[in-house]
Amino acid sequence: MGTLNLGMIEDAAAFIKSKGGVDPEIGLILGSGLGVLADLLEEPLSIPYSDIPHFPVSTVEGHEGELLLGTIKGRSVVLMKGRFHMYEGYGPELTAFPVRVMKQLGVKSLLVTNAAGGVNTEFKPGDLMLITDHLNMTGRNPLIGPNDSALGVRFPDMSEAYSRRLRTLALDTAKTQGISLQQGVYAGLLGPTYETPAEIVMLRTLGADAVGMSTVSEVIVARHSGLEVLGISCITNMAAGILDQPLSHDEVMETAEMVREKFLGLVMAVIPGM
Ligand code: HPA
Repeated sequence: MGTLNLGMIEDAAAFIKSKGGVDPEIGLILGSGLGVLADLLEEPLSIPYSDIPHFPVSTVEGHEGELLLGTIKGRSVVLMKGRFHMYEGYGPELTAFPVRVMKQLGVKSLLVTNAAGGVNTEFKPGDLMLITDHLNMTGRNPLIGPNDSALGVRFPDMSEAYSRRLRTLALDTAKTQGISLQQGVYAGLLGPTYETPAEIVMLRTLGADAVGMSTVSEVIVARHSGLEVLGISCITNMAAGILDQPLSHDEVMETAEMVREKFLGLVMAVIPGM
């Protein structure tokens, strides 16, 4: 756990509980441009990250920092509007601290979304991809350091990091909603540079379908905590070297915006079954 400990998790959770709001069953971490889901919460209670003890504060444009409690379709949720990335300078255990706090608040399952580059050449910008598994290419792990067995086991199993039950739920839901859903492996890198074309060839060779700069440390901590995980990527751009054009954060945000309705439709329809 590095410099984080159970006391800090309890502090943060106690502060959040003291604000009132629902007891959440489901955690949601929303990536670039997808924070609008927060506007669809019923009985919303918003808490700025900067108020929560020990919480880091996000530094990236397009990632607002607030935690929201509320209900969606009768399910109580805690939603992170904006997340923390290692490229901002936070250690992996700090980027995943909110997942620890969610668990402490009573959450049983976690939905993580992100913006990602398409490594699989069959994908198109605007596709949604169900994450079947990930490659942790950060060279870091949030569980390095002494293990607190109150939080989880020393050597967590990652053979079904992304829950089979929730993947089936997402595929069935997408089908009913008429939303096409790609499936594949998410490679998580440190960033903040986008990849070189050679790195994309490497990642494809290693089995990646999409690439991004978030999610893996959150999912590792979620599994350590015993949470069931569902992950969905929004393919905002083709990864470097596939098209003859440079990559930009503007393109990522524009595509995320274009896909917003479809993405929200899927997420809203999946939540009741989580
Ligand atoms: N690479 C890494 N992260 C990303 C990308 C990409 O191409 N697109 C959105 N996030």
